[in-house]
Amino acid sequence: MTSTKVGLALLGLGRIGQVHLKIILSSERTNLLWVMEENTKIAEMVMKKHKMLGKIRVASSDQFDDILLDPSVQGIFICTPTDTHTILVRKALAARKAVFCEKPLSEELADIEACYNDAEKYAGMLFCAFNRHFDFGIRSMYEKARSGGLGKIYMVKTTFRDTPLWMGDPSLSQTFLSHDVDLLCWFAGALPDTVVVQATANIKEVAGKCDVDTVGILMRFPCGMLGILDFCKYSPYGYDVRLEVSGSEGMEITNAKPVSLVKTYTQSGQSTGQIYASFPDRFLQAYTSEQEHFLDVIQGKAELEVTRVFPERAAKVIDAVKESYKTGQVITLKK
Ligand SMILES: NC(=O)c1ccc[n+]([C@@H]2O[C@H](COP(=O)([O-])OP(=O)(O)OC[C@H]3O[C@@H](n4cnc5c(N)ncnc54)[C@H](O)[C@@H]3O)[C@@H](O)[C@H]2O)c1
Repeated sequence: MTSTKVGLALLGLGRIGQVHLKIILSSERTNLLWVMEENTKIAEMVMKKHKMLGKIRVASSDQFDDILLDPSVQGIFICTPTDTHTILVRKALAARKAVFCEKPLSEELADIEACYNDAEKYAGMLFCAFNRHFDFGIRSMYEKARSGGLGKIYMVKTTFRDTPLWMGDPSLSQTFLSHDVDLLCWFAGALPDTVVVQATANIKEVAGKCDVDTVGILMRFPCGMLGILDFCKYSPYGYDVRLEVSGSEGMEITNAKPVSLVKTYTQSGQSTGQIYASFPDRFLQAYTSEQEHFLDVIQGKAELEVTRVFPERAAKVIDAVKESYKTGQVITLKK
């Protein structure tokens, strides 16, 4: 009997890698054959935690070719740091594996284009994990907005205030901005005509690294929609992701997700508990749904939804954001 389970390898067992690992291990559609992790202590600790020691092959980062030579591996999840993505993606595509790569594919547009050129050359599949497309709430807002349910769309505002403070990448980078920039372009269905940014450093530690932490980006799209992106590198009250869409017929909002739905009413007012502390809890449903989508595409049950236009568009806008910050000018994007 042939197995209908999809044979997988997972590279990188850090913050997001462990989120994907947990979902893969709980899925009945997958057969995780390999993990690859640079830090062997982390690999052992994670495999022990999931009672998988000896059941899944553990590779060090110089053993990628062994994984690529395994014909049972159909799909590869890349959850390593961004600067390793391009080489891993291109090698995996050349070995005819389907690729799920965490966002961003690279900080450089040219690398992203090279990855997709390879995907076309080898007729392979490259899925850039823009998980917000698969969040039930955000997706329903997108469908309503795009089907005219809110009339003509005037404005879309995204808020992303991160926690804990992650100093590994600058704020004006694909790592921090690509989810929200992609979201605004997705809602508008286009690249913006113009982009302008204002940014400051309010957090001492961030200023000490010559970075900014508080960022406002304004985009004007060809359809007349304005996109506003409010980003902060550190939020003291939890992982704050919000979205507001307003148009000629109404408005929709999704707020930061509370851990509990309990609302307390007293003489001094109303209150709810804390919002989620970080992305693994806030977006668990979206991570699960995007994995299902990846498996569906591998098994020929769905067409890839996040095609090359999405990460390439985000990269172009973020390059313009950097230029706007450097020059203080409104940047007009080349079509
Ligand atoms: N979609 C999302 O919501 C989301 C959330 C967090 C991170 N990310 C993205 O995921 C990627 C990883 O981020 P993270 O926060 O999990 O990083 P991390 O530093 O927590 O984990 C990366 C892991 O990869 C390992 N590693 C490094 N080089 C390797 C190699 N060549 N081979 C195998 N293992 C290697 C490291 O030892 C580490 O355990 C980044 O590109 C980031 O932008 C996406």
